[in-house]
Amino acid sequence: MTAYYDSIAQQYKKSKLLPFRLHIEAYTYFNLLGNLVGKSILDLACGEGFYTRLFKLQGAARVCGVEISEKMIELARQEEIRQPQDIEYILGDVSELNKIGNFDLVVASYLLNYAQTREQLLKMCQNIFANLKPGGRFVTINNNHSQCPSSYLTTEKYGFIKSIDSPLVEGTPIKYTFTMSANDKKFSFDNYYLSTAIYEWAFRSVGFKEIRWQKPIVSPQGVEEFGQEFWQDFLNCVPIVGIECLK
Ligand SMILES: C[S@@+](CC[C@H](N)C(=O)[O-])C[C@H]1O[C@@H](n2cnc3c(N)ncnc32)[C@H](O)[C@@H]1O
Repeated sequence: MTAYYDSIAQQYKKSKLLPFRLHIEAYTYFNLLGNLVGKSILDLACGEGFYTRLFKLQGAARVCGVEISEKMIELARQEEIRQPQDIEYILGDVSELNKIGNFDLVVASYLLNYAQTREQLLKMCQNIFANLKPGGRFVTINNNHSQCPSSYLTTEKYGFIKSIDSPLVEGTPIKYTFTMSANDKKFSFDNYYLSTAIYEWAFRSVGFKEIRWQKPIVSPQGVEEFGQEFWQDFLNCVPIVGIECLK
């Protein structure tokens, strides 16, 4: 698997400033995660460490990030040098991770949507499961593969759109293009379509007992700042989804 994010690392980092990231993505994610005080957390596909650092700030005892892109992890490590938080960053492919510990939580924002086949997804899920304590949870934010392509352009006002060149079948690339603002250069990356049924199959196959799909929610602050109406297109056809799996 190539580390495509090497070429867009800085731009991706900047996209974390978009309002939907804070008011929907992070709000939904932390709602699912719950209280992190004292927890050990393995953050897969940690990118430049945006969430990895927040987990430590929220009281996690041990946080370890794994990332395939050298450039992304370099940005994370630079931040760790600038402001040490005792986070361990490991350069590696989640598909080949095997067991590196026994964590209370394994988390990932936008990892599984890089699996191009059900076999790759299964491999990722096996490595996720292997790194969890019994009773531990896997919590993730992912591309919503159930979003209808006819609504792919409705997210433009939030700073990104999706597009496809062919019908959605196993492995179809779904292109995300971030438009940010007029001053920022557009950038794109691909996720890969696998149906919700294939995800359920992979989670169950590796042994997860309970699986819960969580529709994104908007923070009260986001409603106050932008108004409910602003978020309605996002909520009508949600482009992302939260997932929680119990070992
Ligand atoms: C959309 S970014 C999300 C980064 C971070 N989780 C966040 O939310 O800011 C997806 C990240 O997944 C990484 N990635 C993709 N496939 C991976 C794999 N097989 N193993 C580890 N990291 C992977 C990419 O390099 C990229 O940094």
